[in-house]
Amino acid sequence: MLHIEKEYELTHSRWTPTSWKNFPISQTVEYKNNSDLKYVCQVLNSKNELILMNEILILKEAFKKAAKNNELFFLQMGDCAERFQDSSDETTEQKYNFLIYFAKFLEDSLQKTVLPIGRIAGQYAKPRTENYEFKGQIKYPTFRGDLIHSYELTEKSREFNALRFLDGYECSYKILKKIKSFNHSLFTSHEALELNYESSLTRWCPKEYCYFNSSAHFVWLGERTKNLNGAHVEFLRGIANPIGIKIGPHFQVKEIVELIHTLNPEKEIGKIILITRLGIDFSKYQLQKLIENIQQSKLNVLWFVDPMHGNTIKIPENYKTRFLDDICTELFNTIQVHRNLGTFLSGIHLESTHENIIECYQNQKNLNDFFNPSHYTSHCDPRLNHSQTKTTLEFIAQYL
Ligand code: PEP
Ligand code: CO
Repeated sequence: MLHIEKEYELTHSRWTPTSWKNFPISQTVEYKNNSDLKYVCQVLNSKNELILMNEILILKEAFKKAAKNNELFFLQMGDCAERFQDSSDETTEQKYNFLIYFAKFLEDSLQKTVLPIGRIAGQYAKPRTENYEFKGQIKYPTFRGDLIHSYELTEKSREFNALRFLDGYECSYKILKKIKSFNHSLFTSHEALELNYESSLTRWCPKEYCYFNSSAHFVWLGERTKNLNGAHVEFLRGIANPIGIKIGPHFQVKEIVELIHTLNPEKEIGKIILITRLGIDFSKYQLQKLIENIQQSKLNVLWFVDPMHGNTIKIPENYKTRFLDDICTELFNTIQVHRNLGTFLSGIHLESTHENIIECYQNQKNLNDFFNPSHYTSHCDPRLNHSQTKTTLEFIAQYL
């Protein structure tokens, strides 16, 4: 380690790209082979950055601008779980066109600049509530994303395999290369979940005197890993990327305030993006409580809404769905509460796809009438299709 990096470590409360290893890790998995894990981390450490610091600075500038006034809006969307098999140039072009089309669509309706951020080129690891899933009497580890294992339901496929990190890197690299060949830029994002992977792609930037995670422009802390004393918070507090925090309905206000102090000790404007995903039952009162406390603590954050994850329901045969009626209700409540308290929404976070699927429904009746498992392709949460994405964005444009 160079002298200057050592000095950085001392002035930043002993943070290093791997200091997270000294903290409890939620959502952790035991890889079948520890020497594979060590090996892939070394390989990734020696690879080129996927995203450069100056590209991250462009997004940070945009977030900063958005935090100061209400003239910019962000559309963050893509798959819940991206699949390695979807890295072809053709698929990337379809995903890119889908995102750019809706960013322009929203831009026209809102009459303000809308910047697209994909859940793309690295959204390969999933946190799960249940550790196992069943097929008849046989139990298998729940699917945790292509970075960790294969979706196929056999004992062998579901083993945790760190060698897949290298495929994750290659797929991201290929997708990014294709994205960069288009003329309209697109920022990338994913949940910073698999810390062995994320920290192996973390780099020192001498020019900015900081560490940054080169796996994406923007990473977020998930609802299940935001433990203040946990490994994910430790890792994220040391990187210069903008950080999202997903906030579910059962948060403790004090903890969120502490989290923001920990992740943004320098009080950089535009650094922290709170992504509320409270669900219809909590999107009024809980949001109000959260905003009021953030205001009282004089913290500067950006507000995004994820109207999907708080409104997920389980239906028979292990399928999940979401109702558009609920998604729109949460959007409506969120907009109202922000308006009443004098804050503003800077972005919307959706799980959507260009694929011709039906994984979400308008309401319960619609589900009862039309449910068909053969219309699902998602490897994790149910996504909006093209027309459902349009309905959702038209709704937000109407009320925002
Ligand atoms: C997700 O965005 O896919 C996700 C798991 O979100 P959350 O952490 O908000 O549940
Ligand atoms: Co999801």
